Amino acid sequence: DKGAYPYYMLKEVDEQAIVARNIASHYYDEDGNLQGIGCAITDKMKEADRLYIVAAGTSYHAGLVGKRYFEQWAKIPTAVHISSEFAYDQPMLSEKPFFIFLSQSGETADSREVLDNVKKQGFPALTLANVMNSTLTREADFALPLLAGPEIAVASTKAYTAQVIVQAILASALGNPGFDLKAELAKVAVEIQAITDDKEKFKAIAEDALADQHSAFYIGRGLDACVALEAALKLKEISYIQTEGFAAGELKHGTISLIEDGTPVFALLTQKKTEGLLRGEVAQVAARGANTIVFASKSVAKEGDAFVLPEVNELLMPLLAVIPTQLIAYYATLARGLDVDRPRNLAKSVTVQ
Ligand code: F6R
Repeated sequence: DKGAYPYYMLKEVDEQAIVARNIASHYYDEDGNLQGIGCAITDKMKEADRLYIVAAGTSYHAGLVGKRYFEQWAKIPTAVHISSEFAYDQPMLSEKPFFIFLSQSGETADSREVLDNVKKQGFPALTLANVMNSTLTREADFALPLLAGPEIAVASTKAYTAQVIVQAILASALGNPGFDLKAELAKVAVEIQAITDDKEKFKAIAEDALADQHSAFYIGRGLDACVALEAALKLKEISYIQTEGFAAGELKHGTISLIEDGTPVFALLTQKKTEGLLRGEVAQVAARGANTIVFASKSVAKEGDAFVLPEVNELLMPLLAVIPTQLIAYYATLARGLDVDRPRNLAKSVTVQ
């Protein structure tokens, strides 16, 4: 039931602070110790020489973020693959691979095909899914819940944040993040709430920048590039504005030729080491007439930025940076008079290959 909300998507965007808290109370006990991830899982993962994250769409984008946690905290090399590609073009695997399937529905046919294939080859697999007792959770050796609650809108929002959080918690069970992840996730929940409370700002930005546009861009570097991909998918799939998300450094290798007067270019800036280069890229597109809209975290924000993101540990910033982009997609779609929850040609669960 969407209650007083006009669309499920807005309700689900707003639920993300609660989802972050629910995940924490499931995976931590009262003393802050991890619970709910059996040794059978962590032992098997520690034996692996490489993790392979396999997923589609938004879940794939969550995997791109999760890779950083497994590599930087758990120190296990991690590859992220699109399931529809992996299924028919299996890359050369390491000697001891461990597979992680990310899925909201647990029913995505492309991912199921890969799970079938890797099971036949005898490799261990873990599914992180929102719908437990789904095909992907039943058929994998292990499964962990995402705990986002039912997601009804076709555009995935809270399942993405849940996937990022559960991957972080899982990686922290394998290695040391070097900070108090539980405390930081509590802060993430507070700040997600603060951003969603400020939603009118994104309504104004979306109406101003996107009501009449045919194309748009999201740029960022590092983790912000991962969020740019997700932000672009969200905007294009419900508003039908052709949107590209990509690593900002690639602009000069081709995409910058698409910039015209008024083209909206959203830039995400939450990673300090990327500040100088990203600001340069924003200036370059602005000089070619782009309407630049910068979402920057507090310590790197400048006058003229469209929104200042609150700050948490840099590696967790995708959890905050994605929220404005979900709201931009939502309000741009509303402004164009479209059905936010049910974009044309799409199904919530893609059960065909
Ligand atoms: C986009 C979206 C899709 C799904 C993809 C995978 O908003 O929802 O891209 O992320 O179809 O679905 P799951 O996560 O159910 O495997």
